[in-house]
Amino acid sequence: MNRFSDPYRHQVRRAFDRAAPTYGSAAHVQGAAAQRLLDFSRQHPLPDTVRRVLDAGCGTGLARPALSERFPQAQCVALDFSAAMLAHVARSACAPSLVCADIERLPLKDASIDFYWSSLAFQWCSPETALKETFRVLAPGGAARIATLGTRTLHELRDAFGKVDDGVHVLDFMPPEHWLDVSRNAGFAVQSHLRETLFDFAADLRALLGNIKAIGARAVASPQRRFIGRKGWQTLQSTYEAFRRPDGALPATYDLILLALRKPK
Ligand SMILES: C[S@@+](CC[C@H](N)C(=O)[O-])C[C@H]1O[C@@H](n2cnc3c(N)ncnc32)[C@H](O)[C@@H]1O
Repeated sequence: MNRFSDPYRHQVRRAFDRAAPTYGSAAHVQGAAAQRLLDFSRQHPLPDTVRRVLDAGCGTGLARPALSERFPQAQCVALDFSAAMLAHVARSACAPSLVCADIERLPLKDASIDFYWSSLAFQWCSPETALKETFRVLAPGGAARIATLGTRTLHELRDAFGKVDDGVHVLDFMPPEHWLDVSRNAGFAVQSHLRETLFDFAADLRALLGNIKAIGARAVASPQRRFIGRKGWQTLQSTYEAFRRPDGALPATYDLILLALRKPK
């Protein structure tokens, strides 16, 4: 299934809908990524006036407190294509304006956003379409801060599945160079970019995959939903063991890419 096709997108959205109740307790890497994006964002100039902020792919609203603290006067729009994720945001104190929509087809007017924030949602999107839409809705001089995932994400799992069969079990992620090229082609000036490594840890592979499922990223680890059987599972587990750390923890790598973009005035 093409990863940018509507059926695949539907599968991704349903996985996030199902994960909404467990997301908060499992989203350790996502919390760390949002914090990194926040720190990174502070290092680069922002528009003089920020009236409207968009959190694109907001999930349960993890970034909301930081965004409203940073832009107390601005109207904050929280957007996600998962209605169940948005329902969580709605329950929070001073909920922002909620929009249930796709990052690639924003129901927003041209040049209506001054600050565009998106943490760990763009890896699910076509970079070309998502960045074109970002550019369209940003006002001239507006800024975008985006965190997404690069090629080394879940490389342990990809390697281990490689010993099981030749199916596609882990989503392909794009390298930073691709994100930068596409950003520039969309019309953005790249203020800065950064690549960092984050890890999730668990006691065993079942728990590690359980975390991925609990945050709704199930389609990352099984884009084609291939069944590997008992023997395949044993091969997967024993191959993954090679990555176990001396302290006993089993790691999953997240290759974080941070982008600071500006729409020219
Ligand atoms: C890993 S979660 C990150 C949520 C939040 N930004 C955070 O930092 O916790 C990814 C979110 O992006 C949303 N998402 C993924 N693709 C999307 C798309 N094409 N349009 C809108 N939302 C999308 C998912 O529904 C999910 O809530």
